[in-house]
Amino acid sequence: MYSSELNAIKKSNRFRKREVCNTNLIDFASNDYLGLSEVKSLLLKTCKTMQSYGTHAPKSSQLVNGYHQIHKNFEELLCKSNGFSSALVLGSGFLANLALIESLPRKKDLLILDEEYHASGLFASKLLDATVWKFQHNNMDELEKFLNKGDFKRVIVAVEGIYSMSGNLLDKRVFELCDKYKFLLIVDEAHSVGVVGEKLLGVFDLYDIKPNKYHIKMGTLGKALGSYGAYILCSNHISEYLQNRAKPLIYATAPSLFDTELAKENFIYMCDNREFFIGEIKKRKAIIKRYFGYDMDGLIFSYKLKSSQDVLRYREELASAGFSVGAIRPPTVEIPILRIIPRVSVEEKKFEEFCKYLVELK
Ligand SMILES: Cc1ncc(COP(=O)(O)O)c(C=O)c1O
Repeated sequence: MYSSELNAIKKSNRFRKREVCNTNLIDFASNDYLGLSEVKSLLLKTCKTMQSYGTHAPKSSQLVNGYHQIHKNFEELLCKSNGFSSALVLGSGFLANLALIESLPRKKDLLILDEEYHASGLFASKLLDATVWKFQHNNMDELEKFLNKGDFKRVIVAVEGIYSMSGNLLDKRVFELCDKYKFLLIVDEAHSVGVVGEKLLGVFDLYDIKPNKYHIKMGTLGKALGSYGAYILCSNHISEYLQNRAKPLIYATAPSLFDTELAKENFIYMCDNREFFIGEIKKRKAIIKRYFGYDMDGLIFSYKLKSSQDVLRYREELASAGFSVGAIRPPTVEIPILRIIPRVSVEEKKFEEFCKYLVELK
């Protein structure tokens, strides 16, 4: 039925296929930056807590009777640690972006996204009646030019803390620009939470930004927090609006109770051990600098290669040497890359071995 489409994908070397992950390989591919997905004591603690509740499934939407004390406890912790007034948990980062981008920009509004914004937000932007513009990646001069144009009821800007593919850090000026023009700012912190900031809370923390009513922060639980799900932090006003308009909040079963509780335990553990993690992150950055002369902003090292074939070949060769990396090809990225995550739970020595091997690969 779809042979011609599949053949075209294959011909351009863009054919994708799931493979069961090989857990014997050393993992430099996944987004579990701090290795929290492997801490047994946190898993056991979560299991114990879950046993104390009568139910372990959310069973319905948060707007029916699926909103559980476990969700509320985690939301309160997130608000307190991040300085926001309201928090909403969601089933995944994809759903959180869909919730924000599909509901906030209305007909007479303007949505401006960084061109490297995550696919979930770009996808949602295609569903809108609002005007949608994209600005050149991290180019604040271009963003400011856009902000001065047109006559819109509301303007919403969407950016990422650390960009998921390039690994680039958000330019701080976006906060100044949105404050100056009183525009809503959505910051997707999927790859910055657990990686940057004095408290490892992401770019609001790194840049010492005190959240105001224009700020919206989205974070995911499936990356540094070693679980599954997502959250939105915002003002009470925006939270009320989202609970009445955001379809992934209203029309989806509430997030998994177990995953939310696990994320809470992992979050507390991350905060309690932040100095240790910050030290480990620094060491991984120093290794990348030494081997590749590159200053990583977060914990994503994007290693560009000439072709999709090269990316696949490198991945295979690295796998046969015992290492797993992400092989990312167009259309996800413009230039094929190996997406390398120096997860801090892998010993430094192993990461150095990996870097040495990669440098010598031709
Ligand atoms: C920047 C960014 N936002 C959102 C998402 C979606 O998050 P999730 O995997 O929790 O659906 C991802 C995930 O890959 C991401 O990289």
